[in-house]
Amino acid sequence: MTAQTDSPRADGPRAGGQNADGRGPLRLGHATGLTCRECGSTVELGPYYACSECFGPLEVGYDFPRLTRADIEAGPQNIWRYAPLLPVPQDIATRTTTEPGYTRLVRADGLAAELGMRRLWIKDDSGNPTHSFKDRVVAVALAAATEMGFKVLACPSTGNLANAVAAAAARAGIRSVVMVPANLEEQKILTTAVYGGTFVTVDGNYDDVNRLASELAGEHEDWAFVNVNVRPYYAEGSKTLGFEIAEQLGWRLPDQIVVPVASGAQLVKIDKGFSEFVGLGLVESKPWKVFGAQATGCSPVSEAFAKGWDVVRPVKPDTIAKSLAIGNPADGPYVLDVVRRTGGAVADVSDAEVVDSMRLLARSQGVFGETAGGVTVGVLRKLLAAGQLDPDAETVIINSGDGLKTLSAVAPSVTVPDAIKPTLEAFQAQY
Ligand SMILES: Cc1ncc(COP(=O)(O)O)c(C=O)c1O
Ligand SMILES: [Zn+2]
Repeated sequence: MTAQTDSPRADGPRAGGQNADGRGPLRLGHATGLTCRECGSTVELGPYYACSECFGPLEVGYDFPRLTRADIEAGPQNIWRYAPLLPVPQDIATRTTTEPGYTRLVRADGLAAELGMRRLWIKDDSGNPTHSFKDRVVAVALAAATEMGFKVLACPSTGNLANAVAAAAARAGIRSVVMVPANLEEQKILTTAVYGGTFVTVDGNYDDVNRLASELAGEHEDWAFVNVNVRPYYAEGSKTLGFEIAEQLGWRLPDQIVVPVASGAQLVKIDKGFSEFVGLGLVESKPWKVFGAQATGCSPVSEAFAKGWDVVRPVKPDTIAKSLAIGNPADGPYVLDVVRRTGGAVADVSDAEVVDSMRLLARSQGVFGETAGGVTVGVLRKLLAAGQLDPDAETVIINSGDGLKTLSAVAPSVTVPDAIKPTLEAFQAQY
């Protein structure tokens, strides 16, 4: 966090815990306020994201209601089944949203057999409306931002977030402004542009785009940059990955989970989701280990883990895993906290291993994940080989995006056969 994090802002859309029309209190379900993750100071709910005392990041706090498994099971087949545990209006399921979540948890026996594992699952978030887990965080950010009176949905993005913001804004009928590094995969550029919002490609890397977004957030008080000025709400959306995994395992927690890391928010919030389910008595308390996965060409958190640092030293990304190419990850130190506390690890794999692992996942399991999925499977293999992951323990890996959006990564190594004549002889001659 830098000193440009100017919250609390008296000039925010509705500072002072007010709702969008300025007449009533801001109600975001059972959320009660925002707490600094560094010094513990609290502030009322509002468009704030950095602590006014120490500039630490703010996190949503709650007074949760009693909630049973049956209550959740009676909810919609999307993330709003967990609405009581999110900072959103409690009638959110009746509003127009992209309805992300409740993606499949695939029993991965094929991949497990390849890797000598006993019980492996893939949480396949490519099944979301814009084919990545980002639809979850954007839906929560949009719901909170609307309550706070923001008019425009915006983001700096490594690709998938831009897809999700542009689509969610189109669905809600509001303007979007999304900004990405210009050198993204063609599929991610096209699948964002098609939604018709304001689409800015920037000659620079993600960290340059993020800096520009922070400056713009200061200029446009009614623009909600989902991962900047409404980040506390946005990040909560990833808890639903943890909730769903526990519910889909039959209301239990796995022993080990491997999560791709860019900013690190997803990993930190999956762990928070598990903890909240334990706290609410929805699953039995047990130990779990959280592992983080990065590409070697952008591995600042993996480096900090290996060297025993508490801080993450920024790097300049250079990897085909562009969705994970954040050189200065906002939640990096919190990833280190989670993996160290749970007995996990963070590791990284080369681009060649990413491609090889994407192909292994597709070949062994029939799941075509994007480069981030290749990173996750690659780190799974690496940590198994190193003895840091237990092959006999129940393990979940996250496939956070769709391989169709990163075709250029596999294109050079996939063989496409020459066409044959439509005759039996031609078939038999070649196959
Ligand atoms: C497909 C995919 N997986 C994982 C991540 C990492 O998420 P986080 O920034 O929360 O660590 C991203 C981030 O852009 C992504 O697009
Ligand atoms: Zn603080």
